[in-house]
Amino acid sequence: MKFWIHTYGCQMNVRDSEAVEAMLTAAGHVKAENEDEAGLVIVNSCTVRQKAEEKAIGKAGNLIAARKLTGLMGCAVKRLGADVFKRLPGLDFAVAPRVFGLIPKIVAELESGARRRILELGDELVPGAMQAHAQSGFQAFVTVLLGCDNRCSYCIVPDVRGHEYSRPAKEILAEIEALARRGVSEVTLLGQSVLRYGIRNPAWENGAGEAFPRLLRAIAEIDGIERIRFTSAHPGGVTDALLEVYRDCPQVCRHIHLPVQSGSDRILREMGRRYTREEYLAAVRRLRALDPEFAVTTDVIVGYPGETREDFEATRSLMDEAGFDNSFIFKYSPRPGTRSALLPDDVSTEEKERRDQILLADQERRGLERNSRLVGTVRDVLAEGPSKRRAERWSGRDGGNRIVVWDAAEQKPQPGGKLALRIREAHPQILVGEPV
Ligand code: 5AD
Ligand code: SF4
Repeated sequence: MKFWIHTYGCQMNVRDSEAVEAMLTAAGHVKAENEDEAGLVIVNSCTVRQKAEEKAIGKAGNLIAARKLTGLMGCAVKRLGADVFKRLPGLDFAVAPRVFGLIPKIVAELESGARRRILELGDELVPGAMQAHAQSGFQAFVTVLLGCDNRCSYCIVPDVRGHEYSRPAKEILAEIEALARRGVSEVTLLGQSVLRYGIRNPAWENGAGEAFPRLLRAIAEIDGIERIRFTSAHPGGVTDALLEVYRDCPQVCRHIHLPVQSGSDRILREMGRRYTREEYLAAVRRLRALDPEFAVTTDVIVGYPGETREDFEATRSLMDEAGFDNSFIFKYSPRPGTRSALLPDDVSTEEKERRDQILLADQERRGLERNSRLVGTVRDVLAEGPSKRRAERWSGRDGGNRIVVWDAAEQKPQPGGKLALRIREAHPQILVGEPV
């Protein structure tokens, strides 16, 4: 059967969709050219904010109306449980995040007419599912840590993605070796809080050293792996052992996505983030002491219950002090079952919008300022392909995950090809360079 997958949400979902694609292909199904051509369409849903969930449910509703065989996977399924069929009466199947590996079997059962309206909410990983990779380019995502035990007050992730579980290092290394043999040179390790790798359950057979820095070192040894990225991080994980890895292993990219959420100590405490503003800033300073060009990006929530103008101003000033290279701003959305959902959502929609716009404008200015410092420097870039906006330009990324574009007439390497670009122009979100 021809299939198509729509993915909403974070890189975890992107990765899970890719694994489903690989498994369906292995089972003899064919990826369609587009949605219209597909007989089976799967929507991979997110539920981190209410709007995200509504989008995925709306999309699935349209597909059902178009009489496609329709499945829903991902975080919204786990949150809704059996109610998912109340929201979407015509849905054929729904599968929670940890058990997406059951999808090929479910599709076979639906095709044979053996079962209908299948719901799988389990927490037990399906053997082999994590390792399935679709044939793709030089970049790959690898899930190293599942779930989350942090229990931040606002966050629904622990409810829908389950307990924290570190995959065995041996299994991850074998997976990356196989990817490298297929031509993958850049891997991104994924986990909700990836620096907690190996803390809840042992990841290595013998327990010497900090598990995550050790994993990075082992991956850096693999032939063909030129770049190692990971996301997301927590300032508590910015340890000496991690800094030593940055110092010793040029493959480990000098970019960290370090969600801060707020710059107000009072709000951080209420959120249960387990660091203070000063501890967060200290972690950033340690990274920048190692390398002033170290790229630091973040997530921020505006309009958390009780967030005053002063709290908001503390977030603004923290963002300037940290000098974020990029930031993602989210308007607070209460999620049923989380601790903060019990508090009044008392910052008005207009005020959330206003705070969002202010932080976006600040980031434009700050992004330009940070990028301007790189004019005249030479960046090592891995080519990705034609730029989305202007096809005569090619686009790639430097180690700091910064987008760098250049004139394709000057040089047009294969995707994954390395080139050195001297930066001649800076913009808030991109750099323009020329081959040297
Ligand atoms: N409301 C708004 N933003 C949220 N995030 C997580 N939960 C919520 C929520 N309830 C944001 C955080 C997180 C990012 C992925 O989404 O900033 O880092
Ligand atoms: Fe949510 Fe906190 Fe886990 Fe991030 S670390 S996913 S914010 S609970």
